[in-house]
Amino acid sequence: MARARTTYRCSECGAVEPKWTGRCSGCEAWNTLVEEVVAATPPLAEAIGPSGAVPLPIAEVDTAAWAPAATHVGELDRVLQGGLVPGSVTVLGGEPGIGKSTLLLQALAGLAKSGQRCLYVTAEESAQQVRLRAERLGALPPNLWLVSDTALPHLLAHIEAVSPNVVAVDSIQTVFEPALSSAPGSVAQVRECAHRLVRVSKERAMSSVLVGHVTKDGALAGPRVLEHLVDTVLSFEGERHHALRLLRAVKHRFGSTDELGLFEMTGSGLEGVPDPSALFLADRRPGTPGSIVAPVLDGHRPLLVEIQALVAKSVIPTPRRSAQGLDSGRLALVIAVLQQHVEMPFAELDVHTVVAGGVKTLEPGADLALALALSSARSGQPLPDDVVACGEVGLGGELRQVHQTARRLAEAARLGFRRAIVPASAPLDLPGLEVIRVATLGEAVRASTDELRRRRAS
Ligand code: TYD
Ligand code: MG
Repeated sequence: MARARTTYRCSECGAVEPKWTGRCSGCEAWNTLVEEVVAATPPLAEAIGPSGAVPLPIAEVDTAAWAPAATHVGELDRVLQGGLVPGSVTVLGGEPGIGKSTLLLQALAGLAKSGQRCLYVTAEESAQQVRLRAERLGALPPNLWLVSDTALPHLLAHIEAVSPNVVAVDSIQTVFEPALSSAPGSVAQVRECAHRLVRVSKERAMSSVLVGHVTKDGALAGPRVLEHLVDTVLSFEGERHHALRLLRAVKHRFGSTDELGLFEMTGSGLEGVPDPSALFLADRRPGTPGSIVAPVLDGHRPLLVEIQALVAKSVIPTPRRSAQGLDSGRLALVIAVLQQHVEMPFAELDVHTVVAGGVKTLEPGADLALALALSSARSGQPLPDDVVACGEVGLGGELRQVHQTARRLAEAARLGFRRAIVPASAPLDLPGLEVIRVATLGEAVRASTDELRRRRAS
């Protein structure tokens, strides 16, 4: 008998090589090629049959049947810009334990309550476990069907039997196609299973949501191939130790990827956070040195976050520089500019900086606030607590305006802040607060301390 033909596929990027090599030529990762049997495929013409598609003038293409169905989980609908589009395939990615199954169950319950027939396929937990969770979430509508299964042919049979409008597969890494010899979760398996589900979704105009685990470095585990296959990729993020969860669209064929969804994990499931800034600032202690609020932008959403810095005498030869929730490169840059252009040395000092509340702020718009927090931490003088600062710090010590300054300041004004330190070039018509314009970081540091003196005197 002839030996089955095999190829080698990269478990990181999915590239195929005819022979084993130590390094993938696609993504240059080491030791990622895995042997795989090439499945015999029927001749193409036989497999696809005659076309069912009819070309139409573009204006006559009917869109009514493709209106998104709302999940009634407000923050999810915000990110999806309406809801799940029939026939679409969405991947919900996130680290284990972040709340993917919970979000999915709540979304399916919302869809089922509004009359959509939904099927939840759990390939990780037992049906009893999911039912118990659904009970706690108050998610037991009659239109929500549940099955615990892992083999793809069985899954497709369940879809055939229930004929749902929406199917959720939790997770795609635990489903397998028995015709393939590789283990569940391998690139070949995930690719094949996702491919088949995509095809079935399009044929039945059924929306599918596939849960995908991500690795520590944030890639969808192994198969980045999934991202190309599907219409929407959602990423569910957050710190395990904080209740806050952020939902973003990494790819979205039916709208922009700029919307940010915010949830809080509570005892009764995920709850939307309509006013995140108020939540982030709830525990702030005014009058603490090294603390300032920065209006940052995440997608379209302005958020007020507290940036904190602590400076302490170092007992090690190379002082520590720690940045939690901030870009460590930007921290190094801001420290260097303070040293060179504001004559504020940080040698022999450990520097710790955090964005309070487990939020990540990697944009340059937080530079100025970070610099002012560092300067305040170093001097031990607290900054006035009704001041916000936003702007990018340049290597020459100059300040640059960041986009959407007006929106950021409007959010600050809404939450009761009365002064804003902004770059001199910022737009003229800024809403609701007293604007202090400064051209350089040195001026900004002086303005913040003058402001403090003025407040003390009055
Ligand atoms: P889960 O949705 O199972 O995460 P994933 O599917 O991403 O692995 O839930 C993760 C955690 O959320 C779990 O450790 C328990 C917690 N949790 C709550 O705090 N409240 C709840 O109502 C639920 C259902 C879960
Ligand atoms: Mg889960």
